[in-house]
Amino acid sequence: MQKCGCDTFSTAIFAWSALEPEENRYEFGWLDAAFERLHAADRRVILATPSGARPMWMAERYPEVRRVQREGQRSVMGERHNHCWASPIYRDKVRRINSELARRYSQHPAVVAWHVSNEYNGECYCELCLAAFRKWLESRYHTVAELNRAWWAAFWNQTYSDWSQIDPRAYGLDGLLLDWHRFVSAQVVDFFQWEAEPLRAANPDLPITTNLMGFHFGVDYHALAQFVDVVSNDSYPGYHADNPDLVRAAASQSMQFDMMRCLKGHPMPWFLMESCIDGRSLWLNTHLKAPGLHELEMLQSIAHGSNGTLYFQWRQNRGGVEKYHGAVVHHAHPEETRSFQEVTALSARYARLAEITDTLNRSDVALLFDWESRWAYHAALGMPNYKHDWALTSEASAHYLPFWSRGIGVDVLSSDVDFSAYAVVIAPKLFLLKPGLSARLRQYVEAGGTLIFTHLGGLVNETGLCFTDGAPGDGLEQLCGVFVDETDELKAATESAGIRALAGNSLGIDGEWRAMRAYSLGLLKGATALAEYTEGWAKGRPALTVQATGKGATYFFLADFDEAGYDRVYAAIIRTRSLAGACGTSARLPPGVTAQLRYAATGKYLILLNFSTDLVEVPLRGLWQDVESGLKISTSVSLAAFGARVLKHC
Ligand code: GAL
Repeated sequence: MQKCGCDTFSTAIFAWSALEPEENRYEFGWLDAAFERLHAADRRVILATPSGARPMWMAERYPEVRRVQREGQRSVMGERHNHCWASPIYRDKVRRINSELARRYSQHPAVVAWHVSNEYNGECYCELCLAAFRKWLESRYHTVAELNRAWWAAFWNQTYSDWSQIDPRAYGLDGLLLDWHRFVSAQVVDFFQWEAEPLRAANPDLPITTNLMGFHFGVDYHALAQFVDVVSNDSYPGYHADNPDLVRAAASQSMQFDMMRCLKGHPMPWFLMESCIDGRSLWLNTHLKAPGLHELEMLQSIAHGSNGTLYFQWRQNRGGVEKYHGAVVHHAHPEETRSFQEVTALSARYARLAEITDTLNRSDVALLFDWESRWAYHAALGMPNYKHDWALTSEASAHYLPFWSRGIGVDVLSSDVDFSAYAVVIAPKLFLLKPGLSARLRQYVEAGGTLIFTHLGGLVNETGLCFTDGAPGDGLEQLCGVFVDETDELKAATESAGIRALAGNSLGIDGEWRAMRAYSLGLLKGATALAEYTEGWAKGRPALTVQATGKGATYFFLADFDEAGYDRVYAAIIRTRSLAGACGTSARLPPGVTAQLRYAATGKYLILLNFSTDLVEVPLRGLWQDVESGLKISTSVSLAAFGARVLKHC
């Protein structure tokens, strides 16, 4: 640990059987000894609570702690992440072990934070959870009549006369499914709070986190993050040099990191709880990362506001299904491996870059991303690509890419957050509109904001009912000046629809591009067309529009554009708002390169990342100094293939 410069270790994550080998008999000696040694060696500990996997004795003696699958089957004795969220016995057992851990270690000098459970996920359909769901619905809707109205329950004769009739496994009401997602997410948030309570009581100053999983579908991280002291994320991107989509994967990863920074509603330092050195995460991919890619990935997280990077895992297990997972220490010849050497080199870089931890990103652009909107979209059968979560996440990152490739920072936010101070707000496919959002968007535009709204956005209210005043609805049709009537899914990668910029359009765009994945036919309701479709019966219909309202403007995208299309339109929008990238201009950086700024109280740091296999020269404005070498740099800076550099403004 000392040799490779690793200073912080999260531990005991799945250690319940070692901590409590028999019910109510605790064994902490082994952990005491480990902590003593870590402390003596000046290493820090992030101590986990063990609820991610329960001991065999518990699973056997108390079957109710085992989750019930949708089909009614109780989960097996082993494995992990398969406990019931509602079981009073499980909650009691968790409370006891957490209290014991808190009593013993919350003042320990080596312990710097809590790591609650592990990657909370999944849902349970046992009778306890179903009853809790019904209770939750009752407190939300008060009467069955109100629930019937909100869910449009008369459809297929599903009108309820009693709460007891409600079963989330029934298929046919998307409002029901949406509320089930909300309920499960709320169960997780509640479970987290239950776990955290004894930890906080024992030492209110010890920060608490739980490791998140990027865009994970099942838990609303905006809600969960309100209760953690610091956000931590697990990240296993498909970064291998022969990935033809490496640059897109990198941009999508950056967007995820930008969301982590903003999960509490405003930018805040966060850290990577898990990452994989060599790329072999087993569950996701088994490709190796080329030399340099790992370091680039870690500096990427720093570029987006992270203040630390940890690995899963320190040492490879001798057995178990993850025994070949990447790790700092391999089964044999630990110090001779590429992993160990790359980690050692990275630690040395971190030591040289220490001053950057007092800084934070700042952005003029906000991208709105809501879990409830995702759930509603996927529950509404028949929306284009609704079966795939990427229908929304990858579309959002397609809107993000033009900013990434110009080094323009973006804050990824919940639509609940006050976005009034941003120059540009992008709401890609914001299908569900929370109450009040439409009015807030109008105020934002009237006051001078630039809003980007899209087809498949603004279609349903908070219970999944379609708006009937327009599409987008809830008053947004007036703001956007467009009514979207029909949408076509472009199924194959080869299906597309041509688009061209209209001559003399106010945005100053020209040329042609294509709609991919989905496109819509709309009617102008006050907006001006900037681009139109060129083929088939869509020919001549608007594909991109603008409408001014007050001091601002709303741009409306009627299709999912190809990369060139998004880039062209956003380049023009960036020009109209005079947004400059981190390197001082709004020009695109060399292909595969991004740059992000972190601001100190006085001064700023520029982090440049090169995801291409070429040595590149990046143009720069102003005078900068390489934080590591001390070299002064102006006009341009060179970046090696997969290289990353940190410069300080002079
Ligand atoms: C994470 C999990 C770790 C380990 C890792 C493998 O999702 O938290 O325990 O399983 O994946 O990549």
